[in-house]
Amino acid sequence: MTVIAIRDLAKQFGDQAVLSGINLDLNQGEVKVLMGSSGSGKSTLLRCLNRLVEPTSGSIQFKGKEILDASVDVRALRKQIGFVFQQFALYSHLTVLENVTLALRKLEGMGLKEANEKALHELSQFEMAPHQSKYPSQLSGGQKQRVAIARALAMDPAVLLLDEPTSALDPVMSRDVCDLINHLHRNGITMLCVTHDLGLASGIADRVLFLDKGVIRADERIDVLANDHSDPELQAFFGKREPV
Ligand SMILES: Nc1ncnc2c1ncn2[C@@H]1O[C@H](COP(=O)(O)OP(=O)(O)OP(=O)(O)O)[C@@H](O)[C@H]1O
Ligand SMILES: [Mg+2]
Repeated sequence: MTVIAIRDLAKQFGDQAVLSGINLDLNQGEVKVLMGSSGSGKSTLLRCLNRLVEPTSGSIQFKGKEILDASVDVRALRKQIGFVFQQFALYSHLTVLENVTLALRKLEGMGLKEANEKALHELSQFEMAPHQSKYPSQLSGGQKQRVAIARALAMDPAVLLLDEPTSALDPVMSRDVCDLINHLHRNGITMLCVTHDLGLASGIADRVLFLDKGVIRADERIDVLANDHSDPELQAFFGKREPV
């Protein structure tokens, strides 16, 4: 089943075309990786998917329904489409447990006891239950990212969007988050992940979409993109890196 179908999507900021002619399908249980230079429009594309950014034209269907219609309930949509940001975006004045229960209580309307149980269940999956009473400042970067992912998954989203989930982490913690994403993939979670990290990309997905100045230039196996390409933009992006 196609979870997300993007057709001819475009976004302009003023007279700058940031995305154009974007077509992308994300199927149930699939992990796709989106790569591209800084400023190529990766975050903008992800943000269009849960209406943090309003596209200029085009269509995005989520489970067969258009999400860009004015009548769409954006809160309900955001429950279905989880988002994990580069900088974790945890609330610094809330504990780990409270960070996870907040949306459950506010968006799902759960009572305290039920929300705590659900949050602890998610946190324990990521070995974060022992840290439930800590504040974000008392956690490592990798631990913060685990909490952010647990928080997103607590809402039981149909798809998880990850925007550079490892770029603020050291190599060991990046590896840890890579293993975590693979674990989620084995559990059937559908994901679209933006990353600059070739190790993460090759660790979690077979194919990579390459975005260049707002246009998808390639949808290819990662080893082909990284090792065997003739496109000068792809060469410029992958050329200075170690082969995979
Ligand atoms: N709210 C905004 N208003 C105006 N321009 C914006 C806005 N958000 C993004 N842009 C512009 O859109 C372009 C794409 O930005 P975007 O954040 O999507 O890039 P990116 O591929 O995620 O880059 P990075 O790898 O650095 O995160 C940039 O030129 C950026 O300046
Ligand atoms: Mg970005």
